[in-house]
Amino acid sequence: MGRWGRRLYKTDRARDFDHEQDRNIRRRQIYETIDRQGFQWVVVLVAGVGFFLDGYTLFASNIALPMIAYVFWTEEVSSLKLTYINVATLAGTLLGQLAIGFLADKNGRKKMYGIELVLLIGSTLGVVMCSTGTHHSMSVLTWLIWWRTMVGIGVGGDYPLSAVITSEFAPAKHRAKMLATVFFMQPLGQVSGNLVSLIVVVASKRQGEADLIRAVDIMWRWVVAIGVVPGVVALVFRLAIPETPRFLIDIDDNPIKAEFDANNLWGDSSTSSELARGTRRDTIHLSTTTDANRLHDEDIATSSVTEWDCMDDPPTTLNSNWTLSKADIVQYFWQEGNWRTLAGTSLTWLLLDFGFYGIALSNPHFLAKTWGSLNISGPTPPWKTDNSPDANIYDMFLNTSVHALVILNIGSVVGGLLMIFFANRLNRVSLQKYGFLALAALFIALGTMFITVHKAGAVAVALYILGQLIFNFGPNATTYIIPAEVFPTRYRGTCHGISAAAGKLGSILVQVFSAYYKFGSFTPGNAQTRRYGIILIVFSIAMILGAVVTHFWVPNVQEKVDGKPHRILGGNTKTLTLEVLGKGRSGPRSLPVTVRQRANQRSAYYKGRNYAEKNRPFSDTREIRNYYLLLAGAGTIFIRFLEQPPNYSECWVLTNYTLAPTTLLILFSICLYYASVGFYRLYLSPIAKFPGPRLAALTYWYEFYHNVLRRGQFVFEIRKMHEKYGPIVRITPHELHIQDKDYYDEVYPGSHKPTDKHSSISRALGTSLSVASTAPHKLHKMRRAPLNPFFSKGSVLKYSGIIQTCAEKLGTRLEGFYESKTPIDLRVAFAALTIDVISKYCYGESYNSLGKPDMDPDIYRNISSFGELAHLLKYFPWIMTVGKFLPHWVVALNRNLLIALNRKEALEVQAQAVLSDKEKGYKKKYDSPTVFHELVNSNLPAEEKSITRVMDESMTLIPAGTVTTAHMLSTTSYHILSNRHILQRLQKELQEAVPDSSHITKTPLPQLEHLPYLTAIIKEGLRISHAAVTRNPRVAPDRALQFQDWTIPPGTTVSMTASILHTDPAVFPEPQKFRPERWLQESQPNAPANGSLEKYLIPFGKGSRNCLGMNLAYAEIYMTLASVFRRFELELYETTSEDVDIVHDFIAGSPRLDSKGVRVVVVGKRD
Ligand code: HEM
Repeated sequence: MGRWGRRLYKTDRARDFDHEQDRNIRRRQIYETIDRQGFQWVVVLVAGVGFFLDGYTLFASNIALPMIAYVFWTEEVSSLKLTYINVATLAGTLLGQLAIGFLADKNGRKKMYGIELVLLIGSTLGVVMCSTGTHHSMSVLTWLIWWRTMVGIGVGGDYPLSAVITSEFAPAKHRAKMLATVFFMQPLGQVSGNLVSLIVVVASKRQGEADLIRAVDIMWRWVVAIGVVPGVVALVFRLAIPETPRFLIDIDDNPIKAEFDANNLWGDSSTSSELARGTRRDTIHLSTTTDANRLHDEDIATSSVTEWDCMDDPPTTLNSNWTLSKADIVQYFWQEGNWRTLAGTSLTWLLLDFGFYGIALSNPHFLAKTWGSLNISGPTPPWKTDNSPDANIYDMFLNTSVHALVILNIGSVVGGLLMIFFANRLNRVSLQKYGFLALAALFIALGTMFITVHKAGAVAVALYILGQLIFNFGPNATTYIIPAEVFPTRYRGTCHGISAAAGKLGSILVQVFSAYYKFGSFTPGNAQTRRYGIILIVFSIAMILGAVVTHFWVPNVQEKVDGKPHRILGGNTKTLTLEVLGKGRSGPRSLPVTVRQRANQRSAYYKGRNYAEKNRPFSDTREIRNYYLLLAGAGTIFIRFLEQPPNYSECWVLTNYTLAPTTLLILFSICLYYASVGFYRLYLSPIAKFPGPRLAALTYWYEFYHNVLRRGQFVFEIRKMHEKYGPIVRITPHELHIQDKDYYDEVYPGSHKPTDKHSSISRALGTSLSVASTAPHKLHKMRRAPLNPFFSKGSVLKYSGIIQTCAEKLGTRLEGFYESKTPIDLRVAFAALTIDVISKYCYGESYNSLGKPDMDPDIYRNISSFGELAHLLKYFPWIMTVGKFLPHWVVALNRNLLIALNRKEALEVQAQAVLSDKEKGYKKKYDSPTVFHELVNSNLPAEEKSITRVMDESMTLIPAGTVTTAHMLSTTSYHILSNRHILQRLQKELQEAVPDSSHITKTPLPQLEHLPYLTAIIKEGLRISHAAVTRNPRVAPDRALQFQDWTIPPGTTVSMTASILHTDPAVFPEPQKFRPERWLQESQPNAPANGSLEKYLIPFGKGSRNCLGMNLAYAEIYMTLASVFRRFELELYETTSEDVDIVHDFIAGSPRLDSKGVRVVVVGKRD
């Protein structure tokens, strides 16, 4: 597993495909990559093991069912009950084929792969545990029918999935061989089923158990249960297989991930991009000038380029998440005539199964009769092949197994091997056609023999073996292979499922008929044998019809090459690519109904939503959880079974229930689930090989411990991790953290490279609709667009009067403090200012905190509490919802939660007011436009202007606009006041710029921005204050990132932390010191234009998700600092560096929790 696991996830060998922006080129790169590969053993094994299990399950049951009949219905002559069970299995199979085939097209192959296997494993265990209960409290028949139906669904699902996955991973030249090998696993499964039953019968016979019924009951349960072993093995592999590249590119519209996966799977990182670059122009030229027929005549090895004659077409795809589009269905199936292909693949399968399974080969009577060992007289139970007085029950079952092994399996194994060998060499459609005809001839021969000779024997056995051989080296394999080749990716699963389901329909019909007409029953007498002969001849008609349908409706999947004559069964054939075959009967003229038309009808909003659904960051737990929910259920029942071995006199499934074992089983399942998740994260995850603490890679509880229990300490742990592990560290099971001053532009690019936030952000902020917590790139872009104009530089300048008014108010309050000589906490004062500004901006009316006697001292603390709560909400987002319904005293146990809930209530009232203002014509009411009124009047879809949107937006915008800036202002003030020379130099600069202090608040912003020392102080303040201290995770959904030698797979969460960069001594020497001079030209004589360091100052983030309020924050900072230090003389009051040093990450930085703030006394006023 380890080797294959590594092989499937070779993250370090993939390339970064960023350079190739042309979608078509990328598509072709993937097709070429696939076509260059050899025989895909991994894929064949992963698909084949499941098919092996199908073979085992189906055919082990053929052996097990007579045993079941012996145990539960010993004396019953009618085989009707077995027919019910068989029909239930077949009906389940039909359902599974249809449903899972369709779902594989809709949701992706990978998502369905494994689920169907879990179902198969679970239901096989269900079958194993069927019982009559205590004193027949349950109906074993009902249980058997139920579980066999489930088995059927699992088996059925495997048909389209294994075929489609194999064909989509296969290079054209090996496709048929790979499919034939997968299909060959079914006879191998049958053989194993037979061998296991032989061994079980022999072992049981040796034990010489006196109670025969008990012995046989144990026997059939063993025969069926052992099949679970290959199922579990297959499951492990299936969890690891990636989505097929063809699905990703054609349906999921994710060419980059497809290419990445393709290269990872095959470790082929060499030439495709060069090839693409080299051939791109030629290809386009060729595709427009060369006609399709000529293209097809090129050799496959050199012409894979020319095969993509669809390069200028819209891709053969719906180009979005798979949607059942009536228009496309009508066009593809009806207008282009491909219904004939579907009818061809379905009808041939139906006719084959109708005829072949109609002869009831696995019936013990039939097998014994054919062998010539049937020794019964009069009506006999189906399990009994010998009713002489000294007949031994073990011998009967043993004989049935041996006969099945010879008659059924020799032929199918040899036929399967021949198929693998010739699948590429012979024309598959011809093989099917002539196979049908050969079977017809055989049926006629056998039928004639039964009619005329009236007895079976060696010749019949030989003919049946030959029949099995032709069956498997012909129609049985080709009806499975061809539907996986001839349909386009968007319908491949569905059409294969429909074709296979038609086959099962044929088997069901024939079962029903055979029960009614007793086709397979072998009561002695020539009349019966003769009747059977006639039926065989009737069935031969079905075979002839199969040949006719194949001839007219099944399209060729190979073509002759080099103009050489096309031989009947083969010759120089070349397998066509899936892309060419997918075009169907109209060939190159076939253009699917692209979403382009539909896209125009959809609003940007829905596009954003779609994008959100498609581009979720990867999550192992989500996938593993689905599997394990099913597996845990099955495991629970199974272990209960082990704990209490089968005893058909007791009901051990539903009754006899005790709490302790069940609880233990549930605990065991949970442990198993977490052990698997842990194993996956440590060894199989695409980011398993990145360095970092094992505990952090294993579980999110590591982050929880540091951020929730130790109150915002994780960011400091990250710093330590970098010291220990280097510049890239795995900090959680799904997240990498990078510390490299020059790598910011890669992780935080502009809009041209779509980048998402991680979806946990909306959980953490508890505001799914706000701009700040919108994870998907496109949706975010759309939500942010109407807010941007308010926060542009021009807009901030235009409405800088709002800040001026607040700065004046603050001045007035400071004058009051000067008079009273009482200390004032600058954090409180600045938070009052910033909240007044942002509330005015958002609602049109400020909260007027500056006007309140105590200036709302709780603002700062409450917003910090909200930041701390975010760490908890990230893990338990439901707390906010549940909290609403809990009594006040319960909520009050967590002060942060209480504050957040109160705040939400208040915001709801405000949001209501905004919406009602909208009705009344708010424009007259306010002197400047406001964010929320404009938002609800914009032309966004209604969902984007709801009360919840306004609430969510204010829940983030108001805190973001308050505490960050207030913290920066108070920290910077502390440093100015504790460094006399800085204070003096600042005061001098301000005095020279604005000689009259009463004019300072009216001084235009641009003039202040030109003051070099003030500007240097602000830069240094932004660097050292860590106003936004937390890391900022990003997800590049569709591109791999290359960091040094590391390739980071698409969809991985990657974060960087500016506060770590801002304290890196290599970039900022003596980082703990407040030194505005480092930003001045004079202190950097060699600096090019005083800009070298600015590149590394990133307090507002980078890229398309940088701070929305950056310009507003700068304006507030310039105007407030200038006005306070120009007008007043301040002195620190019982304040030390511990009151500003950041020791907690509550999104914004927070100093120690018992700090009394940055307290100052106003000691003088300046002129
Ligand atoms: C010194 C003051 C401020 C600092 C240091 C700061 C810092 C940041 C940072 C680093 C981010 C990016 C987070 C990320 O990358 O995920 C951010 C985002 C944001 N900030 Fe600020 N901020 C400040 C002031 C403000 C103000 C005054 C507002 C008021 C409008 C504001 C509103 C926002 C919003 C809405 C976002 C989310 C943007 C988005 O996701 O598109 N910030 N801030």
